[in-house]
Amino acid sequence: MANPNPPPVIVVGAGLAGLSAAYSALQAGSPSVRLLERAAKPGGNSIKASSGINGAPTKYQNAAKYGVDNSFWDDTVRSAGTRLNATVAEPIKKQRQGLISTLTTRSAAAIDFLVDLGVDLSVVAQLGGHSKPRTHRGAGKTPPGASIVTTLLAKLKDQGPDRFSLVTEAEVTKLLTSSSSPTTVTGVEYRNPQNADPAAAPPQTLHGPVVFTTGGFGGDTHGLLAQYRPDLSGLPSTNDPRPGAHAVLSAAGARLVDMESVQIHPTGFVDPASPQTPVKFLAAEMLRGEGGVLLVKGKRVVNELETREKVSGVIMGLTQAEEEEGEGGLRQWDVQLLLDPGATEAAAGHVGFYLWKGLLRKVKVSELDETTRETLREYAAVVRGEKEDAFGRVSFGHWRLGADGEFDEDAEVCVGRVTPIVHFTMGGAVFNEQAQILSSELGEEEKPIGGLWGAGEITGGIHGDNRLGGSSLLECVVYGRIAGEQAAKAALQARA
Ligand code: FAD
Ligand code: SIN
Repeated sequence: MANPNPPPVIVVGAGLAGLSAAYSALQAGSPSVRLLERAAKPGGNSIKASSGINGAPTKYQNAAKYGVDNSFWDDTVRSAGTRLNATVAEPIKKQRQGLISTLTTRSAAAIDFLVDLGVDLSVVAQLGGHSKPRTHRGAGKTPPGASIVTTLLAKLKDQGPDRFSLVTEAEVTKLLTSSSSPTTVTGVEYRNPQNADPAAAPPQTLHGPVVFTTGGFGGDTHGLLAQYRPDLSGLPSTNDPRPGAHAVLSAAGARLVDMESVQIHPTGFVDPASPQTPVKFLAAEMLRGEGGVLLVKGKRVVNELETREKVSGVIMGLTQAEEEEGEGGLRQWDVQLLLDPGATEAAAGHVGFYLWKGLLRKVKVSELDETTRETLREYAAVVRGEKEDAFGRVSFGHWRLGADGEFDEDAEVCVGRVTPIVHFTMGGAVFNEQAQILSSELGEEEKPIGGLWGAGEITGGIHGDNRLGGSSLLECVVYGRIAGEQAAKAALQARA
């Protein structure tokens, strides 16, 4: 029976997963949503997203050139590696494959959802590990994370304060459970130091169905990251430094999976003005997708559009940068990202920002050393189709230096130093295709925790060993929407 006075849907964490859940809960009829955010501002790591969001098949993809895109599921399964290979037990495989199916089959609808809200996603690039271009971003200068987050936030605020409220500096510390059913979540306990002396602030409570969207632990350097991957100590990170909130879920019975699977992105910018800064700007993968190459001492070492796991693995197998060794500083490598005029033009919005920050600089081809120039001449022959790439690269984005047979020494290229960097955590809470957080292990008979849903980087089991670029924003939208709808339904049916 419908509740005449339903409780609010409570969303914990105001990144893209939380914002998608909040919006969908309201669309699904929940009279109100309370969004609690630990930081002073909403957006989380989502607002920093730079390459875009995957979707297939969509109207923005060039089907005439690349064919209709039916390979997103296959690419995602391949990228999951050992977590989803032939040796994996059938029930675990089935659950992982189901999560991927929901992600990929709902991807086109996720793009439509954002476009209908007013987000421009008309430009499509091919990222590493993808067999076709399917990562969508806007044509202007605003990076995709910022444009998606700000649009959703504005739409939520349009709903008015009775329907939607965002409380910042509110850290959820506990999930409340029912006294009659300890496996059912009934609300949250949180601290909001704005209201009192932070040390003495009494916890506040809020009752209603809960959607948990607190993100990953790539920025929890000395906590969860050190616990699960001590071998990554000393690597820089792209993530905001902050503790993971996984223990809050575990205390309510949630299981964690794949926590050792941490993604190292191959290209964090090493700022020449502050090379030892541990939190770095990312050199967006779409820079390589649009044509960029990676050089070590003037030579290519890898297919730049392999999965991140492979590209980072090759680089990290090389000797670390000499200036950092033995100094007790960060572990960094000396890799050059180089964009020819075609790649520079295709990524103009991003390149302008990186040039302004001093992370990229322009040089003439004639100013490059002879080894680099020879590498570029050979690469141009590959782009022209005169020979196969020694590393197997088959997609060259908008590369045009030497592509017509003329190698213009006066052309300007953009160069910058990059290094592998902690970026994303594939592991997290076990959940199912309805976005319910489970108290069962992956592959066991599903035991959903009542009243609790999750989405985004806090959840685990979708990506396996390696997440494809562009699939995190996608999981936030796909599973955030499902979680919001389900929580709204529960709120409307809750006993008065
Ligand atoms: P977040 O966006 O991190 O939000 C979680 C929020 O929860 C945070 O605001 C946090 O403060 C809050 N929180 C945490 N604990 C609590 C608590 N206890 N109580 C209350 N609030 C809490 N992915 C792509 O798909 N495409 C890209 O182009 C892309 N580019 C990226 C570029 C960068 C530089 C980075 C860092 C990541 C990028 N990613 C990209 C990855 C992607 O942005 C993130 O994985 C994803 O946005 C995570 O979203 P989320 O909503 O799960 O978490
Ligand atoms: C990037 O812009 O390279 C990050 C994309 C992602 O993490 O999906």
